[in-house]
Amino acid sequence: MKIDYENLIERLGSVALSNRMNTQANDHASHFFGHKKLKHRSLYFLYILARKLLQSPLVYKRGYKNALNVQVTQTELTFTNLPKAFDGFRILHISDLHMDGMPELLEVLTRIIQPLEYDLCVFTGDFREGILGAYEEPARLAVELRKAIHAETLAVLGNHDAVEMVSTMEAGGLRLLLNEHRVIERNGEKLVILGVDDPHYYQADDLERALAGSPPDAFKILLAHSPEITHKALAAGVDFYLCGHTHAGQICLPGRKPIFTVSRGPKHCKSGLWEHNGVRGYTSAGAGASSVPIRYNCPPEITIHTLRRSAKTKKHAKFGSSRMCVF
Ligand SMILES: [Fe+2]
Repeated sequence: MKIDYENLIERLGSVALSNRMNTQANDHASHFFGHKKLKHRSLYFLYILARKLLQSPLVYKRGYKNALNVQVTQTELTFTNLPKAFDGFRILHISDLHMDGMPELLEVLTRIIQPLEYDLCVFTGDFREGILGAYEEPARLAVELRKAIHAETLAVLGNHDAVEMVSTMEAGGLRLLLNEHRVIERNGEKLVILGVDDPHYYQADDLERALAGSPPDAFKILLAHSPEITHKALAAGVDFYLCGHTHAGQICLPGRKPIFTVSRGPKHCKSGLWEHNGVRGYTSAGAGASSVPIRYNCPPEITIHTLRRSAKTKKHAKFGSSRMCVF
């Protein structure tokens, strides 16, 4: 599909687009393995060794099966400032598909999503498996999955995504928020969904730009790929922050204890529901898996968040039917 660069310039700004494309064109992988992420060469070899071990048939087969066992989790959160018309509003939150690395996931997710009930669907980035190279296939797979979604669908880009994916995805019914916002109205009341470009690798998030022209006192939900901009969310008056990126560890020790998560965000914001300096948020464990498509002690998830209006903020939120998180 022809890339509409004029449209991208108009929406992101020419400097931001040029910055992102320039970084995309640079050796993203060498940056990942360079001095900023892996300080010692020996760590690189440890990484390769771990990868080889995880790719051994026994570990891989079971881990791959785990990675396709997608759970539907649910939260219910109360807010004192939620407009009345949005009491009970349900958001289907999907993150980190990396679907071109695990093509069976399309069928699994289609089957799971079809019977669900929700009012809005949001994707918090990482549609592509790799961080370089072809972007057509992950964009096409996202469009295929969109066919199973019966509500308006908004999305942001992650650190694995190329900005060139936007044209195909938008033609297929996924509206990207590129440092932009969308106002949702119900009975004359408004909810603002803010969406920023990747804050992790590209550091291309511009919340100020996303806020521009939005109704100032409206309830605000932020979509960002990672939980790394809580300080900006606080300054912007964000009420609920939805993100992913960490995969909740993807390969964890028993008890969902992650061995490693790549995020500069606060430690307690790396998975599930959290509260940080007055901002509440949810970091999805992700629907897919990256690097090696396996999971251990960390099931993939899609989440339905139900928003409730209440005179008092309650101190709990439900996770599905069996888990409760003190919040
Ligand atoms: Fe990811």
